[in-house]
Amino acid sequence: MAAQLVRRLVTGLPLNRLYSSEARKVTIIPGDGIGPEISTAVQKIFAAAKVPIEWESVDVTPVRGPDGKFGIPQEAIDSVNRNKVGLKGPLMTPVGKGHRSLNLALRKEFNLYANVRPCRSLEGYETLYDHVDVVTIRENTEGEYSGIEHEIVAGVVQSIKLITEEASRRVAEFAFQYAKDNGRHKVTAVHKANIMRMSDGLFLHCCREAAEKFPEVQFEERYLDTVCLNMVQDPNKYDVLVMPNLYGDILSDMCAGLVGGLGLTPSGNIGLNGALFESVHGTAPDIAGQDKANPTALLLSAVMMLRYMELGTHADTIERACFATIKEPQFRTGDLGGSASCSRYTDEICRKVQSSV
Ligand code: IPM
Ligand code: MG
Repeated sequence: MAAQLVRRLVTGLPLNRLYSSEARKVTIIPGDGIGPEISTAVQKIFAAAKVPIEWESVDVTPVRGPDGKFGIPQEAIDSVNRNKVGLKGPLMTPVGKGHRSLNLALRKEFNLYANVRPCRSLEGYETLYDHVDVVTIRENTEGEYSGIEHEIVAGVVQSIKLITEEASRRVAEFAFQYAKDNGRHKVTAVHKANIMRMSDGLFLHCCREAAEKFPEVQFEERYLDTVCLNMVQDPNKYDVLVMPNLYGDILSDMCAGLVGGLGLTPSGNIGLNGALFESVHGTAPDIAGQDKANPTALLLSAVMMLRYMELGTHADTIERACFATIKEPQFRTGDLGGSASCSRYTDEICRKVQSSV
């Protein structure tokens, strides 16, 4: 099963189509803050590229359920379950109070167990590092994010890091399959099993077992702190990395930093029954509604989505236009040191897409 899921992330491989009708429906969750503007930018570019999909926009503002708890509205859940594929902008999470993170609730609701975050240097956009090309694969359903916390006595709280064999094995196998199908050579399991002997120990054990099933892919085990150190010294030491949830959260931000930040890097949450592609950055309330946001991360997430949907040709056209536009400083948004507006950048991508289709 992992084989099929991963293969859909690769361009142009013939696979049985998921859908029969021509224009496939895709759920879009525009999100909060800059979410609506960057979602509109992606939709404009998709229209210019004549991508055969129909967007179904849903609102995920939490509603109070029969149990009195706030959660994702049923229509949004139904939409993703129907369409199986979604694109999501950033969602605001109140810190320490109010409803729990909807970002996480969505991953849990649809059991999107593997979070794939490729970080590649963009040609023409210089950062401190050249030729970065790493992919972090993060366990997405449990670990430190299991949300099991309680107060033992006043002043003492406990937070459970839940690691299961099932979730560890499926994400480990996913990582190897991803490596194999994408012509990658090595998978590094990132852990702290020297300290968290049982939890990270189990995760590591599952990675070792998965490695045996994929003898064509090299396997190595590294401590998380060592990976951080080596990554900033020489990112070319790494290829595909697989790790428990929180490590993946942190390390994927660090890797994004090597290539220009969260405004540029895509992310896909993949499960057995569907996938949700999302930008990893926040809602940027300080610039919301001012036409200043960079839609690239959401756009490249949408490109990943197209490959998952076997629309690789459209993905390639859009990705090429996006990279070519970033190369030209006059079209860069503020986060990349430019002064172009979101719409100027978007319109230029549309122009390039239209002249190539
Ligand atoms: C991410 C984000 C989320 C996370 C937040 C928004 C809940 O940082 O997708 O990496 O911590 O997973
Ligand atoms: Mg994060």
